[in-house]
Amino acid sequence: MRAALLASPATPLVMTDIECADPGPGQVRVRVTHCGLCHSDLTLIDAPEGLAPIILGHEAAGIVDAVGTGVSTLAPGDHVMLSPFGPCGVCYWCVRGETVHCAAAMSMFTGTLPDGSVPFSLEGRPVYRGLGVAGFGELTVVAASAAVKIDPDIPLEVAAVIGCATQTGVGAVLNTAKVEEGATVLVMGLGGVGMSVVQGARLAGACRIFASDPVADRRNAAIAFGATDLLDPSTTDVVAHVLEVTGGVGVDYAFDAAGAGPLVEAGLAATRTGGTTVMVGAPALEHTVTINPAVLYLTQGKKLLGCLYGDCNSQREVPRLLALWQTGRLDLEPMITARRPIDEINAGLDDLRASVGIRTVFNLGV
Ligand SMILES: NC(=O)c1ccc[n+]([C@@H]2O[C@H](COP(=O)([O-])OP(=O)(O)OC[C@H]3O[C@@H](n4cnc5c(N)ncnc54)[C@H](O)[C@@H]3O)[C@@H](O)[C@H]2O)c1
Ligand SMILES: [Zn+2]
Ligand SMILES: [Zn+2]
Repeated sequence: MRAALLASPATPLVMTDIECADPGPGQVRVRVTHCGLCHSDLTLIDAPEGLAPIILGHEAAGIVDAVGTGVSTLAPGDHVMLSPFGPCGVCYWCVRGETVHCAAAMSMFTGTLPDGSVPFSLEGRPVYRGLGVAGFGELTVVAASAAVKIDPDIPLEVAAVIGCATQTGVGAVLNTAKVEEGATVLVMGLGGVGMSVVQGARLAGACRIFASDPVADRRNAAIAFGATDLLDPSTTDVVAHVLEVTGGVGVDYAFDAAGAGPLVEAGLAATRTGGTTVMVGAPALEHTVTINPAVLYLTQGKKLLGCLYGDCNSQREVPRLLALWQTGRLDLEPMITARRPIDEINAGLDDLRASVGIRTVFNLGV
């Protein structure tokens, strides 16, 4: 099968013929039709000491091609959304309902399947399986629990975008922060993830949604997703503005959806006493966050929450997000601002580096 391969760290991706194994027990092989581009892919592509050779792409959907032994929930021809997290169902975290922390799913960070193997090879050498999906290739192998069956009427590009951006952003609001009606919210960073946080805040019934991004096109696009106040952090002191507009109180919830240590600190400064900051973005490993302990207790009692994949169990989350989309309460098509054949992956990466559009979805053909 053809895949956009990162042959060595920090180099352009190259379309390459790769061998893809049959699915093992409990696994399915999927013909990927669409895969969105998330900033986490870019971070791994640009990492000087990242895993390679690797097939990245973790926001994907497609059609089941073959099922391994013991798989009874899926059959060839089923349309599926692929989750980076295929929960085992029996580990310490799964039994507590925290499937994003499933011990087996952590193999997404080692570029392998949970048993340490990889389904891909190039001239006999193993190729890593990026972020649990490897959606930049025409075929992939995932645990059956990571493939969420969807109605064949649902456009697969829409299902793809739910794969990471929507689950992460909407989940950060509904599952991680549990924003309530009438709340005030600040969203910093308006890419696919941040726009989904804005949409999640709208779904939750937030009364005021401050949206901050240095890119004017993204700020303006945020209005249609529910933002009420637009802020340009390159010309406005976002924290001071939010405090002033809220009468010195601060917002109930702040979200870093850009991935920067200083934005986590800004969130803590912009939230009210007792308010909540959620770190949705993925700051570089060398970033640090400085917190005066008094901010978390004494008279302030603020809360800082981490957030992996919006705390979503995809088998539960995808049907409800699709239902919200079908009833017009979640806008998914406008998130897709570019559609490209997978051969144009490097041009799509350049667009993301320049914050052009919101989400690019690559078409891998059927
Ligand atoms: N927690 C998770 O599980 C999870 C999942 C997916 C993505 N992520 C992370 O979320 C972040 C966003 O992903 P994305 O795909 O939407 O990225 P993106 O690059 O499309 O969007 C990031 C946006 O942040 C803006 N930004 C930069 N500096 C800013 C500042 N000081 N204030 C406000 N905005 C600023 C950029 O202009 C850009 O529009 C990335 O760090 C990504 O790795 C985390
Ligand atoms: Zn992602
Ligand atoms: Zn588990």
